[in-house]
Amino acid sequence: MVSSLPPPVSQSVASRLTRTAIFLVLTIKPGSGPEETIRGVCADLSSLLRGVGFRNLNGQLSCVMGFGSDAWERLFGAPRPKDLHPFREIHGVHHAVSTPGDILFHIRAASMDLCYELAKHITDRFGEAVSIEDEVHGFKYFDDRDLIGFVDGTENPADQAALDATIIGEEDDAFAGGSYVIVQKYLHDLKGWDALPVEEQENIIGRHKLSDIEQLDAEKKPYAHNVLTSINDEDGEQLQIVRDNMPFGEFGKGEFGTYFIGYARSPHRIERMLENMFVGNPPGTYDHLLDFSRAVTGCLFFIPTADFLDNVAPGVVPGGTPEAPQPAPAPGDSHPTDDSPQSSPGDGSLGIGSLKERG
Ligand code: HEM
Repeated sequence: MVSSLPPPVSQSVASRLTRTAIFLVLTIKPGSGPEETIRGVCADLSSLLRGVGFRNLNGQLSCVMGFGSDAWERLFGAPRPKDLHPFREIHGVHHAVSTPGDILFHIRAASMDLCYELAKHITDRFGEAVSIEDEVHGFKYFDDRDLIGFVDGTENPADQAALDATIIGEEDDAFAGGSYVIVQKYLHDLKGWDALPVEEQENIIGRHKLSDIEQLDAEKKPYAHNVLTSINDEDGEQLQIVRDNMPFGEFGKGEFGTYFIGYARSPHRIERMLENMFVGNPPGTYDHLLDFSRAVTGCLFFIPTADFLDNVAPGVVPGGTPEAPQPAPAPGDSHPTDDSPQSSPGDGSLGIGSLKERG
């Protein structure tokens, strides 16, 4: 039997790449006080986004809010997204660190004023409830290149393929429409990188630097970034993710890097890529980009649907009290819960970035 309910509205994980972004990683302060404030921000996020976004309708403002494993337990309790766990450190040839992070905001727009304004309202609302663990203001560099001079994002899936790669389906019915994201802040040794001959840089990335054309398979080195991050399922189908990496830099701190952000319908595919990069495939054949790029943060978050956030009630403790928000019904679910959230198109709500392409 087919449900009459519209499918849940996802947050805008697969939205178009923008010129600017702010990445905010927050931790929740101890005690029982912060939860109510945070739950209030969840419910108000679509309204804040609407208010700021309306100031420039061509500004492509979007915002994705995610929750780490412990934060989910603390704020929402059961049920849990089935693949949500803390980011797993990797000790390979290089080290992928796991760092604190309860809440992620990925704010994107065509210009920084919009990102800044939304971040200001969000952080004002949080007040003392959270600490800011990490904040990165990212920008697009010339020709969409990262600071190592290569175009970044070319092989991202687009349109329906991007949704197929990122949005949870029937594999976790209760959380269909959600997604997972892994973020890592990488600092580059640009002096070392720039000292490499361009040919060797190209071998490391697996693409030609100026033209952005992929090397022929026969030319590619086994340690090339695009060799180690290309993974398949058991039927030989490529397992894709959607990346929206951003360069950042601070001259005063001497820090220049790439903020990696990868969305997927399962964290396992990103974890497999990381394993290949840091340990190597086969072990030892690691990603030589890491000789010039050091991961200084690492966090994993679950991204609930926009409907879920809209329906968070402020004064609720985890454990299924009557007010607890229920996950959105899966598309085609014929037995939705009584208080299933309604999809937002048509109700005047902007959602947290409605995925019109879904229709
Ligand atoms: C220092 C950090 C990183 C930099 C500077 C970087 C840069 C790049 C560049 C320049 C490309 C080629 C163009 C493109 O297709 O976008 C690329 C491709 C790619 N990267 Fe990264 N990347 C970084 C980290 C990561 C991480 C941590 C992952 C996954 C865990 C990843 C996954 C991918 C994937 C899946 C591709 C496309 C491969 C293909 O199908 O050809 N990258 N990256």
